[in-house]
Amino acid sequence: MVKYCCHDSTSAEYWGWRELLRVAWRCPTQYNLGQITKGFMLANLLRDILTRTKSKANIEGRPSAAVLKPAAKTIQEAGRHLLPPRSVAQPHTMTSFFCPVFWGIQEQERARVIEVVEDLTKSLQHGFHAADNFICWGRNNSMFDDPGFADAWKQNAESISDEAIVWRRYILATSAFHCVQLEGDFVECGAYTGVGVKTVVDYLGGTQFPKEFWAYDVFEHQDGMDNHPMPDVGPELFQRVQRKFNDYPQVRIVKGRIPDSFEGNCPERICYLHIDLNQASAEIAALDHLFDRVVPGGMVILDDYEWTAYRAQKLAEDVWFDARGYRVMPLPTGQGLVIKR
Ligand SMILES: C[S@@+](CC[C@H](N)C(=O)[O-])C[C@H]1O[C@@H](n2cnc3c(N)ncnc32)[C@H](O)[C@@H]1O
Repeated sequence: MVKYCCHDSTSAEYWGWRELLRVAWRCPTQYNLGQITKGFMLANLLRDILTRTKSKANIEGRPSAAVLKPAAKTIQEAGRHLLPPRSVAQPHTMTSFFCPVFWGIQEQERARVIEVVEDLTKSLQHGFHAADNFICWGRNNSMFDDPGFADAWKQNAESISDEAIVWRRYILATSAFHCVQLEGDFVECGAYTGVGVKTVVDYLGGTQFPKEFWAYDVFEHQDGMDNHPMPDVGPELFQRVQRKFNDYPQVRIVKGRIPDSFEGNCPERICYLHIDLNQASAEIAALDHLFDRVVPGGMVILDDYEWTAYRAQKLAEDVWFDARGYRVMPLPTGQGLVIKR
């Protein structure tokens, strides 16, 4: 069994020694994939350099996404060509995952909860997952058997929270694997730092991703919004996210408040719809505007559907989908999933 602990030496290169030292005392790595993930990173770095060199002409010319967008049939062909190959999991190598990010805990209880969970993982022999309020064992943890995904997740994560939600990200990535083979565009409502969008795009071809991806966010917290402000929202965030996608003309970042921002900036057909707005009224507005545009077989992922902290979303979405003859699949990650008929 291989235990992957997100505070390994590789993470140190990401988050700095200070962060590593801060948490190391409560997160001793018994075994880790440091060397393997370093191998992934090196391979990715080389690939990145080669890709950038190859696509330099495109970057300089910066053709619009509309120009790049091929006809539907070609999109499907391009999509198949770019699909990451099936990884072959080793029969006796199982990865475990512990990352000390748990939500909805009183501050004075946090250290104790982390200690108890970590202690529990020591008693577990088979692949366990203990992060993001999702504690289980005897799992294949398939996301770590998929090197294309492990690369994309690791390279794009900007915070320990991004690392902790690896299973949620794999739900997005594998949904995207399905959706990229359908007609229609990709949409994320609530793009925030763009980490979720870029993880999916990098899993499916990176700068060669064959679809348009519409990433909506207000990027600044405004009066009257009943979601809690995320730590990085503010005047700088929009430009920061734009810079992140400089080499990705197929990613359209739309700044503005949903649903107003859909006006004049909305794909006609959607194959992948990820809604992550942390407030029921905006999520329902997004469904009102976008669900009819989702193609048959297209997938709708509702990020916080199964979380009690966002129960108002579930209550509103259950009514909304019931009226249309759908029942949301609650996933153990806390996401909800609907497949359009
Ligand atoms: C939880 S974050 C999204 C995280 C992101 N999907 C990810 O995977 O990293 C929620 C985001 O929704 C945005 N948001 C909330 N209500 C909004 C609205 N009505 N219009 C546009 N953006 C909104 C916030 O600005 C925030 O960035």
